[in-house]
Amino acid sequence: MAKIAIIGGTGLTSMPGLTVSYREMVKTIYGAPSCPLVHGELNGNPVIFLARHGRRHTIPPHMVNYRANLMALRDVGVTHIIALAAVGGIADNCLDKTIVVPDQIIDYTYGRAHTFHGDKHDKFDHIDFTAPYSASVRNCLLNAGKLAGVPHLTEGVYGATQGPRLETAAEIRRMERDGCTIVGMTGMPEASLARELGLEYGCCAMVVNRAPGKGAIGIDFHDIEQNVRESVNSVQRILAEAMKTDFDLESAQ
Ligand code: HPA
Repeated sequence: MAKIAIIGGTGLTSMPGLTVSYREMVKTIYGAPSCPLVHGELNGNPVIFLARHGRRHTIPPHMVNYRANLMALRDVGVTHIIALAAVGGIADNCLDKTIVVPDQIIDYTYGRAHTFHGDKHDKFDHIDFTAPYSASVRNCLLNAGKLAGVPHLTEGVYGATQGPRLETAAEIRRMERDGCTIVGMTGMPEASLARELGLEYGCCAMVVNRAPGKGAIGIDFHDIEQNVRESVNSVQRILAEAMKTDFDLESAQ
């Protein structure tokens, strides 16, 4: 039986509309997740919510214990994850407040604990990461976007950078040449750790600024906050529909 989790990012340290049943502090062999797991219901459907940056948004992208977060979700029986992310828009069609359901990733992060293999496990496996996002979660998000009437891009390449600083204009130009359409700081190793654990993982990204060098000179952090606030509503509408999905049926197809 499918069990759904939502990982909330910047602007979504709590989940509006979530009816909380209880909070559970889970310990894993990799340490504690960013905060207690929130068990509850979203539009009448059971869901587990985890705030990636902690309850008070105090954990920067490079300090998130991604392994503990993913392991904690796996340990409580989660099978499917919808990861929410605030990102910068690189491609011309990724303007502020655009919703993107990415289908590919390029990883520019470094020094992060990026695998479960090699230390506490006594054997290692390679994973197939050709298609980094789960087809069933992506389909669910795309259908949900349609049903909710929220315009969205059905594919995109998420370039995951180290942060916490934003990129230089030259770095963004290089990422564009590489084929990245959006840029964020948390997409990796979250996606590959989920794959290592056999979890179905998809991402719903909201563009909250033009990537450095792509818009007006300089980044306006007040504009970013405003765009986050305004995009959260679209994300919520998509999630409300997504929660109605029969994930067991989707995964079987
Ligand atoms: N770069 C990296 N991460 C981000 C950005 C950006 O421009 N905007 C939101 N997260």
